[in-house]
Amino acid sequence: MPITSIAYAELPAATQSTLGQLTHAEFGHVPIVQQYQWATPDWSMLLHDDQGQLMAFYNLVLRTVTFDGHPVQLAGLNNVITPPALRGHGYAKQLLLATEPQWWEPLGAQHGLLVCADHMMPYYRKLGWYPVEAALYFSQPDGQHHRFESNVMLRSPSALQVHPAEIDLGGLPW
Ligand SMILES: CC(C)(COP(=O)(O)OP(=O)(O)OC[C@H]1O[C@@H](n2cnc3c(N)ncnc32)[C@H](O)[C@@H]1OP(=O)(O)O)[C@@H](O)C(=O)NCCC(=O)NCCS
Repeated sequence: MPITSIAYAELPAATQSTLGQLTHAEFGHVPIVQQYQWATPDWSMLLHDDQGQLMAFYNLVLRTVTFDGHPVQLAGLNNVITPPALRGHGYAKQLLLATEPQWWEPLGAQHGLLVCADHMMPYYRKLGWYPVEAALYFSQPDGQHHRFESNVMLRSPSALQVHPAEIDLGGLPW
């Protein structure tokens, strides 16, 4: 199935709107989503069928963050979504596994990072993600720092895992 890998800003407005609606339907009711301002994605990966129907997508925030004070280039995964009627057919898995190599080259990330609800951890474990105990911080436009009280998972390009004690996203969360 065709996969589109594209800068979020270059997505047609209608596609941005479709992704926004799907995202709002999934996460719009979550209190923390309503409470904070969130990063605009830098990149999007979309899986379509041969007729052009959207089967799954996700967004990436590409950012230099810090792990224990040291700069690290991250691919921040957010909004992995398969439209409800299409779930359970392997579309999200297919999209993630096919596109992850792009995170390291050409997008230049050293690791992937996602913030994850408890019930989704087994899903990402199966896809090669690992949990870290790190304290995760982000900031808001008013400059205030906040701690993100959620599970943090990393994906690394090799079998070598990293386990920082503190991660600072240095900006809006994703
Ligand atoms: C999570 C989501 C993207 C999965 O999409 P999908 O296309 O149905 O997933 P896949 O069919 O690719 O599933 C791949 C594997 O994960 C398993 N899986 C799916 N959802 C799971 C869950 N909640 N917990 C554990 N495993 C799960 C599948 O059984 C499948 O296993 P297999 O490879 O052994 O057969 C989809 O359910 C969704 O859009 N959910 C709402 C949004 C969301 O919560 N996104 C993730 C937040 S970051």
